[in-house]
Parts: sequence; structure tokens; C-alpha cells
Amino acid sequence: MENVTILPGFCMKITGRTRIIGIFGYPVEHTLSPAMHNAAFEHLGLDYCYLPFLVRPEALQQAVEAIRALSLRGVNITVPHKEAVIPLLDEVSSEAAFIGAVNTVVNKNGILTGYNTDGRGFMLSLSARDLDVSNRKILMVGAGGAARAVSYYLSDKAKELVIYNRGVEKLEKLVADLSTVRANVSAMKRLCGIEQFDIIVNATSLGLHRDDPLPVDPTLLAGNQIVCDLIYRKTPLLTAAEKQGCTTVDGLGMLLYQGVLAFELWTEKTAPAEVMKKALLTRISQ
Ligand SMILES: NC(=O)c1ccc[n+]([C@@H]2O[C@H](COP(=O)([O-])OP(=O)(O)OC[C@H]3O[C@@H](n4cnc5c(N)ncnc54)[C@H](OP(=O)(O)O)[C@@H]3O)[C@@H](O)[C@H]2O)c1
Repeated sequence: MENVTILPGFCMKITGRTRIIGIFGYPVEHTLSPAMHNAAFEHLGLDYCYLPFLVRPEALQQAVEAIRALSLRGVNITVPHKEAVIPLLDEVSSEAAFIGAVNTVVNKNGILTGYNTDGRGFMLSLSARDLDVSNRKILMVGAGGAARAVSYYLSDKAKELVIYNRGVEKLEKLVADLSTVRANVSAMKRLCGIEQFDIIVNATSLGLHRDDPLPVDPTLLAGNQIVCDLIYRKTPLLTAAEKQGCTTVDGLGMLLYQGVLAFELWTEKTAPAEVMKKALLTRISQ
């Protein structure tokens, strides 16, 4: 008989009553979400388990049907499915509909509702650092999915939100969409005058790869500004901004708080944010 390996840890605690939550992505192997959510379930003694599901784009519809068929409590949705999932759901929150992307699905008695917790997650990451955006002049670089989520909430609080993006079409679409609900948003066609902003947000993917150029020239920073990056690591932009004397915020807080908000939608319990943060930091350091 072959040797059988008994898996340690919470796998042994799975019962017939365990509720399953997952993440649909392609690729999905680098996700930090299982560590964060499983630590929170364990800490609160909740009989839930969070699993990664590798879902190819052509299988997304079947995967969404499987949420109902397998009675999953819900899922996170990540790249490249955040937009494509919308027409497959029964309902979408007004914010997610505006943003045009869903990162969290809740299954309530077979009715699938989509939410977007990325933008509010970003705002919570700022308030957790006691950083107030009210009445501030903000420059956001980027107009992709994350930028759409973040700008919806930032523009609700800021005095002024100016957006720059390499691709003009996406930039104009985002500014036109936001202008239907806000009066303080405008597009910047050529990146300049960054010293006049109180807060600068990098919402592009520049900084993910070693050879990426910087999204803004850090030597032009005034020094008393807040510089945020949605990327969850300390990027070259943040390192350079710190050297210029700026306060910096990386995207780890956004990752944490989008998870906190998703956790609360699924479980209807207050998420243990500190436990989730510790789990994220532990997983990143491994
Ligand atoms: N912390 C979190 O929880 C969290 C959550 C979501 C996303 N993120 C991060 O946010 C970033 C953006 O994600 P996303 O989902 O918005 O991606 P996306 O929809 O693909 O958008 C990418 C953005 O980056 C810009 N960009 C890409 N390459 C560029 C280049 N070489 N030069 C100038 N601009 C470039 C794009 O500009 P064009 O329109 O001109 O192509 C676009 O504005 C990623 O780094 C992601 O990791 C973090």
C-alpha cells in the first residue's frame, strides 16, 4: 500500500458543514487572499474555508454557475474576470456597476450579487493611517480597473481630482463617466505640475516589474506630499518619494481592506483586520 500523507492544519477541520468561499482568477497561484481569509475564519472559529480556483476565461460562465450548483457562499474575482463576470450575475451593486468591475460575489439562496470592495478598501487604508483626503488636490495616474474603483471614492471626498493616463481613450472615458456624478474631476493630457498636488496616486501597473519606468518623475515632488501606490509592495516610486521627504502609502492596506469588506459581506461578522494583516505579512515574507 502507498504511503498516505495526512495534511496538517485546518484541512483536518473541514466537515460536512464547512462553507466554501473561493477566488476565481487566471492565473491565481500568486494570490495572498487564502492566507488572509483562512486566518480570519480560524481566529473567529467560523466553519468556512477559502480556496483558489484557476478559471480560464472560456470557463468563467461554468465557474459562475458552479457557485450556485455547489452552494459556495461566495467568491472573489480577480484578473482577468472582473469585468466579464458582470453579465453572468443576478445583481450588481450600484458602485460596482459604475466602476464596471466586480471583485466580490455573494451567493444568497442562489441569487448572486456582485460588489466592488477595491475602492472602499483603498479609502479605508488611508483612514487607517489617519490620512484625510477631504479638500485635498489629488493627481491619479492610471485609468484601468483599479483606477476606476479608487477614483469613484476619492472624487467623492477630494477638493479636486485630476487624472492622467498614457492611453487617452481610457482617460477620457473615465473622466466622462465620473463627471456624470462628480463636478471636481478633470483630465490631464500631459503629465506636468505634480508639485502642486497634495496627494499623488499611482494606479498604473508601473512598478510591478523590475525594468518599469517610474509613473511620475520623483525629483519633481515637493516633499510635503502624500504619494500612494496601489501595488502592494514598496515600489521604486515609493522609495524615491520617501527620499524626497514625502509620506508614502503602498497597496498592502488596500489589499487588506478590500478583503476585510469582502469578509464582512460573506460572513456578516466584523472582520479581524489585524489578524488578516499579520497573515498577509507572513505570507509575503515566505
Ligand atoms: N492593492 C490592491 O488591492 C490592488 C487591487 C487591484 C489592483 N491593484 C494594482 O493596481 C495596478 C493596476 O491594476 P488594474 O487592475 O487597474 O490594471 P489595468 O486595468 O490593466 O490597468 C493598467 C493601468 O496601467 C497603465 N499602464 C500599464 N503599462 C503602462 C506603461 N508601460 N506606461 C504607462 N502606463 C501603463 C495602463 O495605461 P493604458 O490605459 O495606457 O494601457 C492602465 O492605466 C496593478 O499594479 C495592480 O497590481 C492593486
